[in-house]
Amino acid sequence: MAKEFKRYLVTSALPYANGPVHIGHLAGVYIPSDIYTRYLRLRGRDVLSICGSDEHGVPITIKARKEGVTPQQIVDRYHNIIKKSFEGLGISFDIYSRTTSPVHTVTASDFFRKLYDDGKFIEKTSMQYYDEEAQTFLADRYIVGTCPRCGNDRAYGDQCEKCGSTLSPDELINPHSAVSGSVPVKRETKHWYLPLNEYEEALRKWILEGHKEWKTNVYGQCKSWLDGGLQPRAVSRDLDWGIPVPVKGAEGKVLYVWFDAPIGYISATKELTPDWEKYWKDPETKLVHFIGKDNIVFHCIVFPAMLMAHGGYILPENVPANEFLNLEGDKISTSRNWAVWLHEYLEDMPGKEDVLRYVLCANAPETKDNDFTWKDFQARNNNELVAVLGNFVNRALVLTEKYYGGVVPERGELTDYDRDTIADLGRVKEALENNIENFRFREALKEAMNVARIGNKYLADTEPWKLIKSDPERVKTILNIALQITANLTVVIEPFMPFLSKKLLEMLDIERPSWDSIGSIDLVAAGHHIGKPSLLFEKIEDDVIQKQLDKLEATKKANMAAEAASHIEPQKEQVTFDDFGKADIRISTILAAERVPKTRKLLKLSIDTGIDKREIVSGIAEYYSPEDLVGRQVLVLVNLEPREIKGILSRGMILMGADASGRLVLLQPEKKMVSGAVVG
Ligand code: MF3
Ligand code: ZN
Repeated sequence: MAKEFKRYLVTSALPYANGPVHIGHLAGVYIPSDIYTRYLRLRGRDVLSICGSDEHGVPITIKARKEGVTPQQIVDRYHNIIKKSFEGLGISFDIYSRTTSPVHTVTASDFFRKLYDDGKFIEKTSMQYYDEEAQTFLADRYIVGTCPRCGNDRAYGDQCEKCGSTLSPDELINPHSAVSGSVPVKRETKHWYLPLNEYEEALRKWILEGHKEWKTNVYGQCKSWLDGGLQPRAVSRDLDWGIPVPVKGAEGKVLYVWFDAPIGYISATKELTPDWEKYWKDPETKLVHFIGKDNIVFHCIVFPAMLMAHGGYILPENVPANEFLNLEGDKISTSRNWAVWLHEYLEDMPGKEDVLRYVLCANAPETKDNDFTWKDFQARNNNELVAVLGNFVNRALVLTEKYYGGVVPERGELTDYDRDTIADLGRVKEALENNIENFRFREALKEAMNVARIGNKYLADTEPWKLIKSDPERVKTILNIALQITANLTVVIEPFMPFLSKKLLEMLDIERPSWDSIGSIDLVAAGHHIGKPSLLFEKIEDDVIQKQLDKLEATKKANMAAEAASHIEPQKEQVTFDDFGKADIRISTILAAERVPKTRKLLKLSIDTGIDKREIVSGIAEYYSPEDLVGRQVLVLVNLEPREIKGILSRGMILMGADASGRLVLLQPEKKMVSGAVVG
């Protein structure tokens, strides 16, 4: 038997306030945590759901600098967007706070101060990059240079975004400061370190022996960190954005963002209730952190070590981290704008909040990375929500309206088939509980949808619309049962689709049945007058999906153009007028074109240069077909040394450029000219 807890504290990773929230965040963290808390509330448990914006850290300062605003303006903007969009999707945090709040500043400072006073930190000096021009130490992100692995000349001191390698600033070739562009120097600086190695044994015991039930991805990552041996970790930074290190002689230093952010869970709880301590200090509380896989080490190793060092706090019972969600086959990326942004979705698809919740849960990356596609979104809406759930409820309610003026009919004698159906319904509750308690939300959603499936099948098999003539008494029983199934649906579906649940309750005009009544067929009384049926889900047509795909296509194009622009070749060495004058470029006309046999790329072109007619071999067969070319005017370097290519003497070069994707593009005069006209 699993241990029973008195209360629950559910936290969801604090999103960085340097951009809006996207579907990857939702599928990985916020939808699972909301399902879990809504479920616990339905069961009458004492539960708090905590979240807020993570408002410190270097990326926020970079964004502010880029836009010429203050970091505070950046976090204000995104905090508000994020908060509002969570509300729009029905994510039901008990508090959505932020790490620039005064409560948090005090809580995090006090936390640091206690560890400092108790001698839990090591002080160490080290050499760090310093920008003499801007008079500031440089975070790894602020150092730009050439990647030693792939040659990308815009790699950061912590990572190359092109090839994905993790780097240290020392590995960069030609490092320079992203602040001033100057070449940084190394300077000595002092920082405080939490000696994680001292907590290694305790962590091993707690996780590797005590929490074998954790998800395998989480357990595995913890094990490999612990087996690799833990090192002291710096908990302060030289930065002018963050919570000042609260000790003397620490001017210009702030708490490292990963030190202060998890303390944000505590601060937010404090802000929410004077009773916060029982949620954080009483071992009867079950603490659960919902996070994405990139946060595992911080929530399973670093934060617990901080809590152990402090003393008095409970540790998480579970950390159900999810893998990543991709979008249309590509990694979701805030900087490349490759995402479906929640605030935009809510605007583009009003009334479809539950559809997104449904699709993201059904497709959640629980055990491996998964892909979100708009086609799948459409299919799940049309084939599952409309065709199964919507169809069933609609039939049950419309028929009740039609046959009985909206009054719930009496149930008569049950058939064996009725009993089988009711038995199926009875199995749902335990399956749901089992899956949700074990963080298997996809399975749980299937179970909840099963109630609609059971109902849909029941009506399809019993066909009350046919029986109404021959056996009207029987139809009363059928519709009574169908309405009971609908009432069951309002409970089982609530954690997943709260808007739908509310609408169903209004349509049935009943109070929400209790969790324990799942499986019961006495949820709507005979004689009760139900409300008016209305449409629950509408079919999503191709044009709606196409609009979203077009949006992504536009992003792809913009990224390609930006990518190309960032790879403009540097200017070549200077040439004299005379040097340039040596090149003889003429407007020429293509007379004929054919493929060079046994090659993929080459075309043989017959050219009228005005001076003569000649042949040129050009590597453009991938981009132009021979028929496309005949009659076109192009620019030709005519006095280039002739070269033999595949047995053909090529005399001259056709001038071309490459577009954003590297495809060769012919250059041609803006209007028709005479062949032989001089270019220059
Ligand atoms: N902002 C971090 C991220 O998005 C998560 C912080 S979780 C907290 O990856 F525990 F530090 F708050
Ligand atoms: Zn690289």
